[in-house]
Amino acid sequence: MKRTNVVRVVDPLKVVQEFVRWTERELDYLREAEHLSKLRDQAVRHGFNIKIPKVYSDLTTRKILVMEFIEGENLKWYYLRDEMPPGATELFKEGIFFELYSYLFKGFFHADPHPANLLITDEGGLAFVDAGIALEVKISDRKKMAKFLEAVVRENVTDAVAAFLEMANAPILKILKEAREAYPRYWMKIQLMKTIFLKKVKTGLSDVIERWHKAAREGGSIEEKSPMHKFMQLFQLADRAGIKMPESSVLFARTFLTIDVIVLELIPDLNIPAIINEFFEKYKAEFAKLLEIPDEVPFYMEPEFDSEWSEIFQSTHSEIKRREKELLMENASAIMETFEI
Ligand SMILES: Nc1ncnc2c1ncn2[C@@H]1O[C@H](COP(=O)(O)OP(=O)(O)OP(=O)(O)O)[C@@H](O)[C@H]1O
Ligand SMILES: [Mg+2]
Repeated sequence: MKRTNVVRVVDPLKVVQEFVRWTERELDYLREAEHLSKLRDQAVRHGFNIKIPKVYSDLTTRKILVMEFIEGENLKWYYLRDEMPPGATELFKEGIFFELYSYLFKGFFHADPHPANLLITDEGGLAFVDAGIALEVKISDRKKMAKFLEAVVRENVTDAVAAFLEMANAPILKILKEAREAYPRYWMKIQLMKTIFLKKVKTGLSDVIERWHKAAREGGSIEEKSPMHKFMQLFQLADRAGIKMPESSVLFARTFLTIDVIVLELIPDLNIPAIINEFFEKYKAEFAKLLEIPDEVPFYMEPEFDSEWSEIFQSTHSEIKRREKELLMENASAIMETFEI
């Protein structure tokens, strides 16, 4: 495919390499065993009514994973029969709480909760199996996502826009800031451009947020209720505004795919924004604590890092920053030239 150039948007070799990497990771059962134990510990320690199979480490190797057998049926089984598991609303709520808690407050979450990986146990509880894909999230990414999500479910558009711009990377705002410093006499025009940009983002975002809440409250099409669909609209909005979304937000959206299946097929009137709002109410203290944690320092600034190398990395980093600034200045002057015309 690479030679014939039939696929151009992605590099086919990279796609295959990525596939190999993930498959190898998923086939290492010691890693999966570690994921299961960590997630199980998180569920137990924080009092979630979620079952995660216990691993028998002394019987587990890289090629064989031995774990507790959970009696029950997976969600796919219910889904194929178009049948609702008993107490489904409460179970799914607990599942959503567990995923959000893991992602936002623990920084380690089950990133593949599709219907075949969720079981309804014979005791009527919810279980997560198959921790082949479980991922870590950086503190800075968790903080930004938490702020954004919290504002969205409160229907606070102003806070949501601020959090969105903090989470995403909007080069235009940097350029305008530099331009304002470099060309103070054009400050009004620059301010106007900034206002227009922010207004566009705000209009786009408030439309997405309002429609989501409205569909959840009053009913509406599946698409209007789906968090995944809302995330896709968000990504499109970002794309139009030249905004780059962090990779972790794509993983977050992907994880929410399962909720979509549940909403689409099993409980059409599950009010997801209300559930997430309740989550932030319940874990107010954890949310506040998360925002207090300082962002991670770069690896080369950690105390155990060799001091000589640390200096080299630091000066390289500041050199890159300086170059970035120069580039921004060039962009800024290009914008100013347009004004002169
Ligand atoms: N501990 C367990 N107790 C009971 N059933 C389980 C357990 N672990 C897995 N299963 C069942 O076996 C199925 C396959 O297991 P698992 O998802 O771990 O394998 P997989 O190879 O990743 O499958 P897939 O590719 O379909 O996700 C699950 O969908 C679930 O129904
Ligand atoms: Mg599976």
